[in-house]
Amino acid sequence: MQTVVIQGPSTIKGQINISGSKNASLPIMISTLLAEGNCFINNIPNLRDTRFLVSILKDLGCRVDFQKNTFVVKSSAIKKKSADYEYVRQMRASIVILGPAISKYKKFKIALPGGCSIGTRAIDLHLDALTKMGIKISIKNGYVIAERKKNNLNSINHKFPKISVGATQNILMAATLADGISKLKNCAIEPEVVDLINFLNKCGANIKVKNRTITIKGVDELNLEDYKVIPDRIEAGSYILATMATKGRLRLNNFNPNDLTFPLKIYQDMGLKIKKISQSSYEFNCKRLKPLKKISTREFPGYPTDLQAQLIASQLKSAQKSKVIENIFENRFIHIPELRRFGANLSIIGKTVTINKTLNLFGAEVMATDIRASFSLIIAAMMSKGTTVINRIYHLDRGYEDFDLKLKKCGVNISRKK
Ligand code: UD1
Repeated sequence: MQTVVIQGPSTIKGQINISGSKNASLPIMISTLLAEGNCFINNIPNLRDTRFLVSILKDLGCRVDFQKNTFVVKSSAIKKKSADYEYVRQMRASIVILGPAISKYKKFKIALPGGCSIGTRAIDLHLDALTKMGIKISIKNGYVIAERKKNNLNSINHKFPKISVGATQNILMAATLADGISKLKNCAIEPEVVDLINFLNKCGANIKVKNRTITIKGVDELNLEDYKVIPDRIEAGSYILATMATKGRLRLNNFNPNDLTFPLKIYQDMGLKIKKISQSSYEFNCKRLKPLKKISTREFPGYPTDLQAQLIASQLKSAQKSKVIENIFENRFIHIPELRRFGANLSIIGKTVTINKTLNLFGAEVMATDIRASFSLIIAAMMSKGTTVINRIYHLDRGYEDFDLKLKKCGVNISRKK
């Protein structure tokens, strides 16, 4: 199994081109199931998850391909009406296939995704809304079986009891070809959801977003159009936090600060300086990192849960009883025991982590546990004296395109070992 070795301390100095957004790419690639024709979708990051989704779609019978950073669709027609356990268990986001697939085909089954290391991650919000659209849902032998009798799905007027990115994407996709006008309230409005909507509208859908309400006027058909996915705000935020933690200087290209407004404000309060170079290029530096007081993760536009672990790591040497509260996932602190291996002084009570300053951190052998938690280990390794070995780096390869090459180019002493 591959590992990553980092010699610390190490500072980021240089330029990084931000890749396309993973969390926007996955639903956009899936949404092509809804439409006729062919298209090129550009700026797709070449990651384990995007390559894996291409194999799921191929397994369903779609004529799709992945060339460099372009997802090519020659035909989105499905031959097999089942997304199998072997695929779904490896990538939870595959549950979002269900909405578009059942809106196009009368029967579709998909393996139950199950929990993962950051929580139970139920799919009740997805299934309740699909049931309301006239779909009969049953669960048998570990599969969700969805069936419908009518030619089209019913439109839906629905308030999600909880905000969910995946459920919002799944149901809005199902509603694009439904009869009549659907209204979804209490939706996730993350930039990745909006990017999916922009793509669908380009293909002929009629979807409007106002505050947390999404209105979808069903159309008869969609036709695929070429598209370019937005930059990855979480990748960008991760490199910015690494810059702050190591008192570095970094220019990010292909970056959109509007997708990260609130986190950037917090980081500026912590000492980050930002200089605009051009519309999509910004320079960051931080000479003195100040302690964070308290922050809670929230749905967009709040502080993203996907940047929680990296924020904690960046504070290990500056915090003063700093508190980070995780509100989105029930168990998203699995990086804490790993960060303690560097000597970090962290305590957890319920949903709150308290960080106390540790002046000396030392390299350690650690284990990557989920995509974003893994990047917190890279940050800690760069702040520590000596050698760090990170195991199970497939988590990093799921979410950070060429992370080792990008960091190496910025002077970080990092290497991948087979
Ligand atoms: C997406 C992102 C992930 C991010 C998360 C929150 C992708 C591929 N992944 O995950 O990186 O961390 O949004 O911003 O885009 N929930 C239920 N019932 C449901 C669905 C969700 O209880 O039916 C709960 C979850 O367990 C969690 C919360 O709702 O506690 C939010 O989850 P959700 O927004 O659905 O996350 P994902 O779409 O899985």
